Amino acid sequence: MFILGIETSCDETAAAVVKDGATILSSVVSSQVEVHHRYGGIVPELASRKHVEAIVPIVGEAMENCGMSLNQIDAIAVTRGPGLVGALLVGFSYAKASAYALDIPWVGVNHLEGHIKSVFLEENPPPFPFTALLASGGHTSIYYVTSHTSFEIMGQTRDDAAGEAFDKVAKILDLGYPGGVVIDKLSKKGDSNIIKFPRPYLEKSTFDFSFSGIKTAVNRYIMRNQDNYKNQITDIVAGFQEAVVEVLAYKIIHAAREKKCRHIALVGGVAANSRLREKVRENAASNGLTVHIPSLHLCGDNAAMIAAVGYHYLKAGKTSGLSDDVFSRSR
Ligand code: KG4
Ligand code: ZN
Repeated sequence: MFILGIETSCDETAAAVVKDGATILSSVVSSQVEVHHRYGGIVPELASRKHVEAIVPIVGEAMENCGMSLNQIDAIAVTRGPGLVGALLVGFSYAKASAYALDIPWVGVNHLEGHIKSVFLEENPPPFPFTALLASGGHTSIYYVTSHTSFEIMGQTRDDAAGEAFDKVAKILDLGYPGGVVIDKLSKKGDSNIIKFPRPYLEKSTFDFSFSGIKTAVNRYIMRNQDNYKNQITDIVAGFQEAVVEVLAYKIIHAAREKKCRHIALVGGVAANSRLREKVRENAASNGLTVHIPSLHLCGDNAAMIAAVGYHYLKAGKTSGLSDDVFSRSR
């Protein structure tokens, strides 16, 4: 089954063609980073406008890259939520209209489920059940995944998402947006042992997270060291990154142990973080667990993961209708 995936929940316009929920034939991601960069964060109204401009050419590019035409597509899968409503509506309306015109089924899918399923686009996907840590700009959650269409949430952030903390710390230090990539790179030049930041909830038995305290601690450190903090940027970001990574790595290992399952998936934009990838692999190895982390291009938002989710719902006979709508928050 050839599925056209569409993703417009945030600041990436993406389209992909995926065969049988596992083989990527083409995947195009058009980032709006340049548009939002000067504002230090995403401006929802601008995001919607850019999606409107990009959606038709990006789908066209995805079709061209795999040498197929739209009438060879069997179904469409599109992100329904969570995300920015105005942004979601662009992809959702496009999918509705195209499916109607092509007279093919379509299904709206959960963006978070998309991230979880990104590991199925790689070779050797995890067997069920597995625990997944989803860390992105909008979410930080741990899931117990039991099948292609069922999963339960074990814990989630009570305030900032991990990626949001990276972005906010980068903004405080004037390092640019999005902050994760910059902090990852700068941390390699710093020493994470020089400045210690708090590890919230580390010792608690909950699988929930809290990251706003680390961000505040970084802010306080800067206030107290107004004169010389600029000479310590690499050590500050390395210390901050290590605090976030230690909490994330500890919780996902313990979630797997609690569920007595041997496989872990690390997904979402923050799964691109080199220190997190390294630390989770180290901790998993010492606990006899296997780790599945997608390649970098599948960690961030993309439409292939949306097609991968859609495939299993469509196969189970689940489709969406013209009266269905997008949703903004996790549910
Ligand atoms: O999954 P994603 O592309 O979009 C959302 O659904 O949110 O995640 C974006 C987030 C941003 O906060 C970005 O700073 C973070 O992922 N990110 C990283 C890295 N690359 C992207 N965070 C830490 N280290 C990275 N290398
Ligand atoms: Zn995402």
